Amino acid sequence: TPGLADLAVAAGKQYIGQMIDTTEMQNSAYMVIASNVHMFNQVTPGNKMKWDATEPSRNLFTFGAADNIVNWALSGGRQMRGHTLVWHSQLPSWVSNSNFNNGTLVSVLQNHVTTLVKHFSGKVKTWDVTNEIFNEDGTWRQSVFYKTIGEYFVDIAFRAAAAADPSVGLAANDYNLDNNNSKIAAYIALVKRLKARGVKITQVGSQAHLISGQTPSFTFMVSALNALVATGVDVAITELDIRIQLPITSAKLDQQKKDYNTAVRACMAVPRCVGVTIAGYSDKYSWVPGTFPGYGAALPFDENYKAKPAFYGIVDAL
Ligand code: XIL
Repeated sequence: TPGLADLAVAAGKQYIGQMIDTTEMQNSAYMVIASNVHMFNQVTPGNKMKWDATEPSRNLFTFGAADNIVNWALSGGRQMRGHTLVWHSQLPSWVSNSNFNNGTLVSVLQNHVTTLVKHFSGKVKTWDVTNEIFNEDGTWRQSVFYKTIGEYFVDIAFRAAAAADPSVGLAANDYNLDNNNSKIAAYIALVKRLKARGVKITQVGSQAHLISGQTPSFTFMVSALNALVATGVDVAITELDIRIQLPITSAKLDQQKKDYNTAVRACMAVPRCVGVTIAGYSDKYSWVPGTFPGYGAALPFDENYKAKPAFYGIVDAL
């Protein structure tokens, strides 16, 4: 099987990457492909850099698991994405239920962002500074950060990250950015406001958690990415998976091949799309069955680490 990363680099992209967590890193059969830098030359940690994992109680930071992922990734010559600094989910209750006032939550936020970005400085290439801050209709998600601080929580997080590591890339990451919709419009407007206020943002990440047979067309995906790029940022596809309604049939696997091809081709067609990260690589480990009952088989390799038609859909796109 050809190496996806090698093909992507030859075609002018930075990477094809994988999300990975410490659970699957214990599985040596899984790690044969996961460790092949010709296949995946970029890594995003699935869970171990999230707030609940890194600051489970106030100002007590735990980096052991994340360090293991980062050291493995970098020692094999892979690029690292940080995921994620500010998110309403997997947020410990000492933050989400705190009733901190504005000043206290601002300092908690600054301390968290600064400590993580400094700890991984020189190792993480780009951070998902914010994750999922808008609703589908483009209104603000009512997180503890937004409710307590207002929109400026975004400025505060991006400014703290930039100060902690002036050379790191700074992204806002979200799902449902695959199409022209109200959420895309909210990001375009936000990037413009941030830039007008002198806040550095270098990228918008499109998670791309898609449903096979219902993915937007190539034209729509490209125009969504281009609309973001027009604000002066790079884009990346950050958590690509394309779930199938079970049971699996060969017709559904062929449809999934087309859908993977479309999504990866969309990134290829946009010069400022830096790369594609898949949300794992094998159906053995995927968040999909646990989160979307009745769906599964969302990744390009099957549970026995055998390439599915979807894998060749990616190859054809590169
Ligand atoms: C998921 C992980 O894969 C799961 O293991 C965890 O239980 C929940 O979070 N968007 C994101 C990711 O940005 O961090 C989420 O990852 C999936 C949705």
